Amino acid sequence: MPGMRTQVGIVGAGPAGLLLSHLLALNGIASVVLEARSRAYVEERIRAGVLEQGTIDTLDEAGVGARMRREGLLHHGIELCVNGRGHRIDLTGLTGGRAVMVYAQQEVVKDLIAARLVADGTILFEAEALAVEDHCADRPRIRYRHAGQEQTLNCDFVAGCDGTHGVARSAIPPDALTVFERSYPYAWLGILSPSPPPADELIYAHHERGFALYSMRSPSVSRLYVQCAPDDDLAAWPDERIWDELEARLGSEAGRPLQRGEVQQKAITPMRSFVAEPMQHGRLFLAGDSAHIVPPTGAKGLNLAVADVRLLSRALEAFYRHNDSTRLERYSADALWRVWRAQHFSWWMTTALHRSDDASGFDRRLQLSQLDYIIRSSAAVTSLAENYTGLPFAD
Ligand code: APR
Ligand code: PHB
Repeated sequence: MPGMRTQVGIVGAGPAGLLLSHLLALNGIASVVLEARSRAYVEERIRAGVLEQGTIDTLDEAGVGARMRREGLLHHGIELCVNGRGHRIDLTGLTGGRAVMVYAQQEVVKDLIAARLVADGTILFEAEALAVEDHCADRPRIRYRHAGQEQTLNCDFVAGCDGTHGVARSAIPPDALTVFERSYPYAWLGILSPSPPPADELIYAHHERGFALYSMRSPSVSRLYVQCAPDDDLAAWPDERIWDELEARLGSEAGRPLQRGEVQQKAITPMRSFVAEPMQHGRLFLAGDSAHIVPPTGAKGLNLAVADVRLLSRALEAFYRHNDSTRLERYSADALWRVWRAQHFSWWMTTALHRSDDASGFDRRLQLSQLDYIIRSSAAVTSLAENYTGLPFAD
């Protein structure tokens, strides 16, 4: 069937697919983005909200950072709170000037969609990819359904940016893919509340009652999480119970009353670590959540997606501009270096801060010793700050 033709066919209009399309366009490379959901759906989907320094820089350099700079909140530190005792971690001082930006993922998505549309970029919403075919030959194609019709997108390369439940990864034969996974015996119950933040910076709290995280979306909207069991029912968490737990876990010794506001967007998120290797098969390249998932504690998911497409766009640029495919051949190995660093950091933050019912007395003592070491040792806290703000890009 004759179909549309482009240079890079991109499946998924999350941060990975949209940023890739934008970076390619800046280098004169054509792409088409296929997105199963509607524009409104992807622009409103609540996800994470902390951008590493390298992500901030990448968005700025790509000319899509203006609203983030105006409306985002630049943070130079975080608080680590252990059983009610708070300790500020000076991220910027410990990393030679690096910081993080609190700016919601769906805002990044809105900015990228706007930039693509202004530049006449093609994003087909409500276009569900059904299969990636012939990606081991020179002319791969994506079969998709749009407006009730099955259609074909012919391309030079396919970028699978379709998240963890997408179709791109399943086009790689199982014997060519190795999957590494880990699940955790806890989950997060998250809420959004139009209530003023109790502090200017994020608070990561380890408490005997379980982990809690105080984050924000703006100076008047709080984003709060409490550790719960993965099989907990939302019905067991009436609003008052959530506020009581947050206050018990986040309150410092001096007492830190939370202003209780309306509870919105109440949801339980399970946690998982997942990596599929390699991130490439023939002319199909995976980026973002389609290749890896991290538990949310280190706030790395979105940042890894950005790091992947930064590498992939540069590799495609070398191919189209200089007929040089060495960077494409190296893409998976280059990306996996950062993926595994972030996997380790996310696993470490998660296990260091959560309460596990299975932990022995010995395990709990080790956990407290680890947190105490972060507080007392400049070497240990510097390592945390370096990973949290994100390691610099090698290029
Ligand atoms: N056809 C077209 N689009 C698809 C298909 C399909 N078959 N399957 C999934 N999609 C779309 C989804 O609707 C979604 O919009 O792919 C997009 C994938 O986007 P994300 O899930 O946001 O993944 P990614 O761009 O890799 O961004 C990673 O998202 O999950 C968070 O915490 C994660 O912050 C990280 C970020
Ligand atoms: C968030 O604001 O949603 C958030 C912040 C920090 C994290 C995870 C999520 O580690």
